[in-house]
Amino acid sequence: MRERDARGMTRRRLLGIGGALGAMAATALTASAALARRPSITGAELRSAVPLPPPFQVPLPIPSVLAPVSTAGGVDRYAITQREVTAEILPGVRTPLWTYAGTFPGPTIESRRGRPVTVTHRNELPVPTVVHLHGGRTPAKSDGYPTDLVLPQGWQEASLPMGHDMHDMEGMRDPQAVVTTLTRDYTFPLDQRPTLLWYHDHRMDYTAPAIWRGLAGLHLIRDDAEEALGLPSGQRELPLMIADRAFAADGSLAYPSLDPTLRRRPGVTLPYLAGVLGDVILVNGAPWPVHEVDGARYRLRVLNASNARHYELEAVTDDGRRLDLVQIGADQGLLAAPVTHRVLPIAPAERYDVIVDFSGVPVGSRVRLLNRLGSGRTRDVMAFRVARKVTDDSRIPRVLSADLPAWRRSDAVRVRDFSFRAGRMHGGHGWLIGGLPFDPARTDVTARLGDVEVWRMVADVHHPIHLHLVGFRVLSRSGRPPLPHDAGLKDTISLRPGESVEIITRFDGYRGRYLFHCHNAEHEDMGMMANLEII
Ligand code: C2O
Ligand code: CU
Ligand code: CU
Repeated sequence: MRERDARGMTRRRLLGIGGALGAMAATALTASAALARRPSITGAELRSAVPLPPPFQVPLPIPSVLAPVSTAGGVDRYAITQREVTAEILPGVRTPLWTYAGTFPGPTIESRRGRPVTVTHRNELPVPTVVHLHGGRTPAKSDGYPTDLVLPQGWQEASLPMGHDMHDMEGMRDPQAVVTTLTRDYTFPLDQRPTLLWYHDHRMDYTAPAIWRGLAGLHLIRDDAEEALGLPSGQRELPLMIADRAFAADGSLAYPSLDPTLRRRPGVTLPYLAGVLGDVILVNGAPWPVHEVDGARYRLRVLNASNARHYELEAVTDDGRRLDLVQIGADQGLLAAPVTHRVLPIAPAERYDVIVDFSGVPVGSRVRLLNRLGSGRTRDVMAFRVARKVTDDSRIPRVLSADLPAWRRSDAVRVRDFSFRAGRMHGGHGWLIGGLPFDPARTDVTARLGDVEVWRMVADVHHPIHLHLVGFRVLSRSGRPPLPHDAGLKDTISLRPGESVEIITRFDGYRGRYLFHCHNAEHEDMGMMANLEII
């Protein structure tokens, strides 16, 4: 990691490997070398061992909105119990899941900008957990640091077989960790732009399998200004959490964990080091669902909650026409003005707020949402069936928001360089930031509250990079202007193979220990995470 101040002074820091992609060759996994030749897919696909249903038969579920247990004192209070359930995801197949409050996706929390929310999470799962609100501007103590564990009742650290693998206990030995038993209150001020956030498990070394088993849910922030725009709403606003999964012969979710109890040994088996892909595409927890719509505009709040799968979404009518995907928002809320796409790439953890107009589609016909990067069954995502002609008084204003931060390069007091690459970790394969695997005890970046910084990030294979606490804007991609879908304020940026990307942000909000990491969840578990200390 190279740090340079605004006066052009350059100094190499401990993490420094900087430089060009050439350095990758020395340490690269054979898997990642192979991936570099097939950049559209990062990871290996698991095959389901049960019969899969035909597409577009199962109705699209809409996750239920959680009712607060109290709204007294200006705070909305919620309670969520994390527990195992068995659910029917594929018709006729029983699948054990780890859930928030019994469902996958978990219940949606709807909140108002600036009105604090406290969620009491109760862990009735067989392993420690920790909840992170992705995209939340959250004080560090509620941000879900990966070692701030909530232990299950009766969990005895000492009763765990220590084994040869000291690495697995690192999380337990982080001296700064704040560990509780059974419950923990997370408080979110939500003093931030309205947008779609998501909450998910973030336990050190085990985030990927925990999300895979079902620990993910949506959290919407709304405000009066956005509601006054006249965008499609009510039944015509649909959250779409897209995630791929695979199913074992006994109906359980297949996942190539080295230790399926997720207690002693993190990691996945060799072919899946670059990421775990499933052969079933779920939207809101249903396989290739279908949703009946009016011939009108719809607002789709899309989240890619997949561990490693990238999508390039397109909406195609039965007669082969591609409908416009009018993007109105990014990870961190509304754009300044709409941006029209025919194809929209979405990396793990990214969100897009998109308007699709079904008014020109013949009643009775379908619009399929497809993934151009998929093949065979993974090309299909879901479908909309247009049921009736209606009048539509929704609109897409030409000006959506006026409060987007407009940081300029000249505002930046520092430029930092990071590489995101395959390498060696604890004697095995890992994914590294600046040549190092994650260590909770090491501060990788110290940033001053209020400072504007430019970060330059270079990747070997696809890495969707996420910063906690702050939103950022994209300045450039490999020296060129940002792409159309880079518009607005983001918290996750998809670095493409070999690409170098510049982002700009202001470290705003709270002091404390935060993170930045790759949101390919397997990469994240295998080292690709770093500490960001705001002072
Ligand atoms: Cu969505 Cu640190 O994560
Ligand atoms: Cu996050
Ligand atoms: Cu990555």
